[in-house]
Amino acid sequence: MKFTASCAELSDLKADSLILPTGSELSNSAKVVNKLTLNSIDSAIENGEFKGKSGQVLALNLPQSPFKRVILLGTDGLSNQRQIKKAVMTACQALNKTNAKTVLWVGGLLTDNIEAEASIVAQSSNASLYNYKKHNAKKSPNLESLTFWNAEQSAIQSADTGLKFGAAVGEGMNVAKQLGNLPANICTPSYLAEQAIKIAKTKLDKASITTEILDRADMQKLKMDSLLSVAEGSDEPPKLIVINYQGTDANTKPVVLVGKAVTFDSGGISLKPGRGMDEMKYDMCGGASVLGVMNALAQLQLPINVVGIIPATENMPNGRATKPGDVVTSMSGQTIEILNTDAEGRLILCDSLTYAAKFEPDTVIDIATLTGAVISALGKVASGVLSNDQQLANDLIESGTQSADPVWQLPLWEEYDELLKSNFADMANIGGPQAGTITAGCFLARYTKDYKWAHLDVAGTAWVSGGNKGATGRPVPLLMEYLRQKAK
Ligand code: BES
Ligand code: MN
Ligand code: ZN
Repeated sequence: MKFTASCAELSDLKADSLILPTGSELSNSAKVVNKLTLNSIDSAIENGEFKGKSGQVLALNLPQSPFKRVILLGTDGLSNQRQIKKAVMTACQALNKTNAKTVLWVGGLLTDNIEAEASIVAQSSNASLYNYKKHNAKKSPNLESLTFWNAEQSAIQSADTGLKFGAAVGEGMNVAKQLGNLPANICTPSYLAEQAIKIAKTKLDKASITTEILDRADMQKLKMDSLLSVAEGSDEPPKLIVINYQGTDANTKPVVLVGKAVTFDSGGISLKPGRGMDEMKYDMCGGASVLGVMNALAQLQLPINVVGIIPATENMPNGRATKPGDVVTSMSGQTIEILNTDAEGRLILCDSLTYAAKFEPDTVIDIATLTGAVISALGKVASGVLSNDQQLANDLIESGTQSADPVWQLPLWEEYDELLKSNFADMANIGGPQAGTITAGCFLARYTKDYKWAHLDVAGTAWVSGGNKGATGRPVPLLMEYLRQKAK
């Protein structure tokens, strides 16, 4: 989809649909649209059809006006980025129900920050075009172009920057959603590795991307026995996918993103109950979000260095599978008593986090669908963030607010860490029934002492269940906002 910013006279612009964010009081630009459309907005408000309340969407069919369809989007009461994004998403969905190919978005009416508004509009338009089947069939949806209009010439550059950024984030989300939604018999560790290689083939002029795929033998040489213990019970070969985006000079230390990619989590010998087990195909959404970010970085060529590390494996129960009570030695040398084979995410992450040190990182962020407990704590609204550096946690919280992809912090206190005590190894891989998200974080913290690190638990936010079951593309918006700020 094509995005352009324009400050031409509204009466000179043509589009199949026009989107007008407005409350019950009309702004100057709303008054212009009202005039051009034979007072249709005034009438909709007078006859009570349109109240202007936040999130209300009303489509007016106006065959005799220059805009055949005007979609009114209520703005009264919109007060934060999350509400704005939700409203924009509603408008985009309404738009997709029509067969409009070209859209005109009357900009500057949702927030004073034109760049942020343009970014949300482009992100949501692209993200709302995602459709699992269409995506597979590569059939293009109806919507072809969106013009983001603003009266001020001076706003056009900001609008343009916002559109480019948002469009790339939206596409990155769609990459993550598609990989998440693919079933585990297609989206295997090898498939993920191929996708990484495909993204790295993007032709770039200001940056470069390379991939390296480590297989079982490579991991054995590196003594990644914790990671390999998870792959042991599966016939699918594990892969450690390393994707290196270089957007600035080589001696700038990279941000390393480590994404959990368990392409199917059966629980292993600590087998999960059958109900809802299909959703464990989503246990690779952390890794998928890293690929989504890489896709977006390639599109934007941001001046920053980012390394993606994706440990990819199945967690299955065959005759060779790890058994509860088994002890393994991680790459760091620390030993782990595996009391529950279903706490496998931390076992693949710890070796990946040890490996991350090799890139002399500025910052390491891991992204993982790590614990059911984070859903009890934060529901499906915020992802959990745990960090050994308060400034980093603050930056991520701020990026989450700005991108309407929120995170909320949980503590990494030593009282929680003590719950990992084992009689037979340096630590157990579970901390008992309480504070499951925090003890998982404390486990990872034992492998990240040499650099600034944050852990994002996205088990509640990476996909939705029920009638609308599907991956969300989160936390691609959060990570991209963080990297955008970092690249400044
Ligand atoms: N992938 C799951 C976490 C998960 C569970 C995500 C449900 C989304 C929904 C993870 O590997 C896991 O099984 N975690 C266990 C840890 C426990 C055994 C300490 C959990 O959360 O139950
Ligand atoms: Mn598990
Ligand atoms: Zn898992």
